[in-house]
Formats: sequence, C-alpha cells, structure tokens
Amino acid sequence: MPRFVCRCMDVTEEEVIELIRDGVRDIQLLKRLTRVGTGPCQGKACLEILVKILARETGLTPDEVGLITLRQPVDPVRIGTLAGEVHEEEC
Ligand code: FES
Repeated sequence: MPRFVCRCMDVTEEEVIELIRDGVRDIQLLKRLTRVGTGPCQGKACLEILVKILARETGLTPDEVGLITLRQPVDPVRIGTLAGEVHEEEC
C-alpha cells in the first residue's frame, strides 16, 4: 500500500524518493515536480513531511534543506470572491 506524502494531490513517498534519487535536491524543485503542497490544504498537511523526507534521503538537517515558499492565499478562496462576487451566505 502506498504511503501518501500529499493526500490532496495523491503524491506518494515512493514518487518523492525516486526524484531525490534521480538527483533532485532542491526543495522548491521537488515541490514543483511533485505538486506537493498545491492542493486545497495548501501544504498544511504535507510540506513538513516533504522536508523531512528530503532531509532523511540526503543526510541533511531539515534546516539545511530549507524552507518552502508559501504563496497566498493560504486558505482556499473562491475565484468569484477575488473578483468581488457577493455570495448569498455573506449577505
Ligand atoms: S496534503 Fe498536500 S496540499 Fe493538502
């Protein structure tokens, strides 16, 4: 049974480890290639796991692996809300 790193985007630990063993050592690139952290929870449940896996597989500390750039919005927002649409529940 696969171990999921990112349940929102269905990314498994095996996929992540394969990329690391293929030479991906940059946390930002690993995020982009796997899409980890780009789902509805915006990485709240998975980015820390991704850092730990990269650290474990490379022998680095999590601090040496570095931080992942989080982009706004952190919480899911409807496109209509950004466009100024008013929802009935907000009235
Ligand atoms: S679990 Fe990865 S984005 Fe939600």
